[in-house]
Amino acid sequence: MAVTLSFSPSTMKQYEWLLTRYPTRRAALLPTLRLAESEFGEIGVPEMRYVADLMEIPPAFVFGVVTFYTHYRRAGTGKYHIQVCSTLSCALRGSEDVVTRITERLGIVPGETTDCGLFSLSKVECLGSCDTAPMLQMNDDYHEDLSIDDVDQLIEQLRESAKGGSN
Ligand code: FES
Repeated sequence: MAVTLSFSPSTMKQYEWLLTRYPTRRAALLPTLRLAESEFGEIGVPEMRYVADLMEIPPAFVFGVVTFYTHYRRAGTGKYHIQVCSTLSCALRGSEDVVTRITERLGIVPGETTDCGLFSLSKVECLGSCDTAPMLQMNDDYHEDLSIDDVDQLIEQLRESAKGGSN
């Protein structure tokens, strides 16, 4: 039997508040998807359908928005989602070396997830922290002014955390 998704009462309250902040229901889609991501842990087809039904907008529109932006945690993403900024400031300050190092350490290229499901790697557009380039976002945290040693340390820390069962 298919599981029916539903926002918790507290998330539904946040959603209803959001609707008061935007001129149209559809205009509140981006923050509503954030709520769905937080509530359900990821955005896959069932979550997109739920949001579309809730907001009374076509599922294809929701799909288009989710797949346009890289910022949502899509279904199948690893426990640790490493997003390396590849826009100008970061590119000039070595973001490609950061990506190369992560690729060497994890054996995946951008767009892939390790077989163990622990790490996903993405190259993304500007994350708004250009003055601390090169930088990456790991789940909700920024790691800035990165050196290759920092990248190595981060990966080791995440591996240790995974062994210990913490975030
Ligand atoms: S260019 Fe990388 S954060 Fe803006």
